[in-house]
Amino acid sequence: MGMVQDKVALVTGGASGIGRETARLLGMEGARVLVCDLEEGGGQETVSALAEAGCDAAFLRVDVSEEAEVEAMVAHCLERFGGLDCAVNNAGIGGPAGGLDSIALADWNRVLGINLTGVFLCMKYQIPVMRRAGAGSIVNMSSGAGKIATPGMAAYCASKHAVLGITRTAAIENAKTGVRINAICPGSIDTPMLEAGLASDPEVAAMIRASMPIGRLGEAREVAEAALWLCSDRASLVTGHAMGVDGGSLAQ
Ligand SMILES: NC(=O)c1ccc[n+]([C@@H]2O[C@H](COP(=O)([O-])OP(=O)(O)OC[C@H]3O[C@@H](n4cnc5c(N)ncnc54)[C@H](O)[C@@H]3O)[C@@H](O)[C@H]2O)c1
Repeated sequence: MGMVQDKVALVTGGASGIGRETARLLGMEGARVLVCDLEEGGGQETVSALAEAGCDAAFLRVDVSEEAEVEAMVAHCLERFGGLDCAVNNAGIGGPAGGLDSIALADWNRVLGINLTGVFLCMKYQIPVMRRAGAGSIVNMSSGAGKIATPGMAAYCASKHAVLGITRTAAIENAKTGVRINAICPGSIDTPMLEAGLASDPEVAAMIRASMPIGRLGEAREVAEAALWLCSDRASLVTGHAMGVDGGSLAQ
């Protein structure tokens, strides 16, 4: 028996990085997986890898910042898989690098629209389904930048702080319903997003390189392991938690 045997899992941002590894691990541990992303090519690659491993998986193109698409995403999951037990709301972007006073309003709105409003919309449509079933687990992808200042990335930092606020609020609102809601705060994880951050701005690159006391970048698989555990019934007493998966960076 896998850790999430026969559960239905939905992963946003599943075409790349942490989301792809999370979808893969949930599938290997027995879940049927709906992989959602803006990027169809990468999403289909994730699904192909799952199918080759004998898992039941499907891809849906979704922009998590668009309410109608998120509503349709949850409806599609119910139609295709007959339920929704676990959701990993992971889609996100880094946004512009540079001091706060250099951020264009359009860039600010885009980062908040995907990283924060996207998580809000996902939970808005996932929670009622899980409440009706009397069980479910939601994992929202925040960041170490959700807990501390991130010079040069104010919009990203604000969005990830806010993800923790709505995660904790939704967890308490639903504490007696059987629906657990948690967040993960990854440190610097070796993914395409981090590569873009390293290339974006010398100040951001220096911060990333200095951020991991463990002495190396994290791997997407290591974050996926935490998401898997939070999704599983083994985490039955855990809700409203913001879990660092960060090689000690938030302990400094
Ligand atoms: N890599 C890190 O160091 C790190 C650290 C902390 C937090 N995180 C968070 O982890 C999550 C995953 O990041 P990653 O490093 O795997 O990045 P990534 O760029 O490899 O993957 C992000 C995925 O999200 C998708 N996406 C972006 N906008 C979307 C939208 N509007 N709708 C649907 N999908 C969309 C992208 O297409 C991509 O496939 C993000 O929320 C990120 O903020 C990453």
